[in-house]
Amino acid sequence: MPYQEEMGSCNIPSVDSLIPQRAVVSYSRADYRISEEATRKCEAYVQDLIQHPQGRMVGSVDFDEDRHLIDKAKLRDVLPPGLSEQQFANVLLLSVTTEAATDTYAQVFHESDRRYGAKWLVRLTDHVWVPDETEHSEPFKDVLLVMGYAEEDLNRRIRESREKIYEHTSGDTPVQLTHFGTFQEHLTDNWHGFAGFIVKRFDPRRGRKILSVKKRETLHTMWYGDLTEILVADNPELRYQVTDTTKRFRMPGNNYAPEVEAVSMQLISLMGGDFRKIERGLVRIMSGSYCDNIEYLGEAVIDLLAEKAGQESPMPLKLARKLSQTPAVGRVVNLIAGQVVQQREGFKPATPGERIFWEATSPIRSLVSQTTEGMNFVG
Ligand SMILES: [Fe+2]
Ligand SMILES: [Fe+2]
Repeated sequence: MPYQEEMGSCNIPSVDSLIPQRAVVSYSRADYRISEEATRKCEAYVQDLIQHPQGRMVGSVDFDEDRHLIDKAKLRDVLPPGLSEQQFANVLLLSVTTEAATDTYAQVFHESDRRYGAKWLVRLTDHVWVPDETEHSEPFKDVLLVMGYAEEDLNRRIRESREKIYEHTSGDTPVQLTHFGTFQEHLTDNWHGFAGFIVKRFDPRRGRKILSVKKRETLHTMWYGDLTEILVADNPELRYQVTDTTKRFRMPGNNYAPEVEAVSMQLISLMGGDFRKIERGLVRIMSGSYCDNIEYLGEAVIDLLAEKAGQESPMPLKLARKLSQTPAVGRVVNLIAGQVVQQREGFKPATPGERIFWEATSPIRSLVSQTTEGMNFVG
């Protein structure tokens, strides 16, 4: 091992703590009801991706091209202050091992089809997603090689992660998997972005290659988001499964490099990551998953915040959660909560009706914003 092992020194937790989590809920086949029309829409969406591949895939890495060992002093010079060489190597190791284990995640999508019936999800996985992900680990391995890691060591880590059984605990209905996909791909997209821009400083060609992986993750985020939207638009009851997945979201990295995943927030922070920007992305994804219906968004955020606060929930939040589930009053409470989230994230009301409601509820929003100041969905 070229660098002294060191995982982290402060108490910033894993990136999973971005999202509140709770115990597993199991859904029956009857809980996942989708019309034939929505199934056809999902099938057509996937078929279009198969027939018209979007963008360019990453492509194989020629490991012999321009092979050299990086000058350690040069590497130290370009790393952000506070981020050690070992910590940066850990960032890349997490990427190598999780990207290499694609086939183990693919099984979860197959299992979802067996339990709930979603052939389009299997087609997306087998014909689009897996072939796309297959080469994603190579650019990270390539950088670790020039940083001095032995090829046998990296191959062993890759082999071990491929042999592991992936434990998926974030919900397994098709809509839960597509929503899980959007969160997972979005966080991976950010993670690769931080690493890619740092690598670009000492090796522009290899940095660009990593950024080309990031671009694929951006596309994957969009695909899963679009599919979630089709499903929830068809059966709004599925939004509760989406919220359930948000509550118990866990990055796959916990399976393959738990010691690095455990300090992922610290690493993001050291790489200069902006948590507010990541949060905004997650809220945007949630908003899309609820078909941009701010009432659903508000309902989910009240639920998520109350879940996160647990017994410590302040009285206004406890009351909001209770009212949120009440007919009629609940709709208004959820709409206002949705608007508070929109205001916080800088989104604007989309329709004329929303704009009128927005103006009318301005004083209440200010009051709610003041009351919930410091209560972050993230962090
Ligand atoms: Fe990937
Ligand atoms: Fe991906």
